[in-house]
Amino acid sequence: MAKIINICGARPNFMKIAPLMKAYRNHPELSPVLVHTGQHYDEKMSDLFFRELEIPAPDLNLEVGSGSHAAQTAEIMKRFEPVVLEHKPDWVLVVGDVNSTIACALVAKKLGVGVAHVEAGLRSFDRTMPEEINRVLTDAISDLLFVSEPSGLENLAREGVDSDRVHFVGNVMIDTLKSNLAKAERSTVLERLGLTKRGYNVVTLHRPSNVDDAVALGRIADALEVIQQDLPTVFPMHPRTRGNLARFGLAERFAAMRQLQIIEPLGYLDFLKLTGQAAVVLTDSGGIQEETTILGVWCLTLRENTERPVTIDSGTNRLVGTDPANVIASYRECRSKSLDTPPVPEKWDGRAAERIAAILAKMC
Ligand code: UD1
Repeated sequence: MAKIINICGARPNFMKIAPLMKAYRNHPELSPVLVHTGQHYDEKMSDLFFRELEIPAPDLNLEVGSGSHAAQTAEIMKRFEPVVLEHKPDWVLVVGDVNSTIACALVAKKLGVGVAHVEAGLRSFDRTMPEEINRVLTDAISDLLFVSEPSGLENLAREGVDSDRVHFVGNVMIDTLKSNLAKAERSTVLERLGLTKRGYNVVTLHRPSNVDDAVALGRIADALEVIQQDLPTVFPMHPRTRGNLARFGLAERFAAMRQLQIIEPLGYLDFLKLTGQAAVVLTDSGGIQEETTILGVWCLTLRENTERPVTIDSGTNRLVGTDPANVIASYRECRSKSLDTPPVPEKWDGRAAERIAAILAKMC
């Protein structure tokens, strides 16, 4: 019997944990415990995802809430340490690259508990990005590294990680996408927003480099002003971005864009339907670059780099930065071209979590 404490904390973690919690059920020798750090806590950033993705209620919620990077990471560590001491797990499994990921990995490793990292090896090579620091540090102390795309294998090999510890399993986020497509199809989000298939764009923004900087956000506004004249554009807004629009005095400028609809963050099923039927998605998210690859929808990534290069190779994703002229030119190009069915990245077949559970079970 192996006890595994599974960590989730922020919105993009929930779609990664959901298929794992399901896959464990086929392995009675695995005893999973689910810990929510509480990094995200709003109904729309957390609870809704548990319900829609049928994730069992967490065994424990550390309720850390928001804070600076140091304060949030430290608080997670302080609250997680007694949990590890009490439960004495064989493994702590962390996913992705958020503060909860590194905080819990570090606590586990220092208590001599094995760390398993799902989505290991991704690198943007941009160390100004908080997630890149979380990725590099988590991988450096992980005992089992589950990789989602070939670049992850190359990066870990270059960093000297022993290949015995590395497993190319595919992408758990795509497991969730595949198992929810039929349900998402029934979402009424298009009707509710007055949209038609391929007749609108979707925008999401939350990276500090884009939304914590008034100049960068202003440049993105310049691009969106033009793009929303071409097609209605829906912007489900992350709370961090909403706060900054107000702080930088940009809220009125966004409100004045006639075809831009700013809405509250959406749940998983509505968002999947919305992205799946969009003409173009403009985003700075990592996960959305992957989802649009499988959905076969154009994705313009408003960043200078990506830790997910397979999404570029597959042909759906383009790195466009935030220079308005560049964003607009790339947008026009996408609008003028139809997208061929993109090749599916290797092992993005909906079975990544099964592979992970099988590997963990073999370790018992
Ligand atoms: C975090 C992750 C990021 C991930 C993103 C997805 C880190 C370093 N960053 O960024 O990698 O892509 O989640 O959303 O871990 N807030 C709320 N309600 C919530 C959560 C947050 O209002 O439920 C607000 C708070 O004002 C908070 C701000 O959003 O200060 C930012 O939240 P935080 O967890 O610090 O980072 P994210 O930007 O969400």
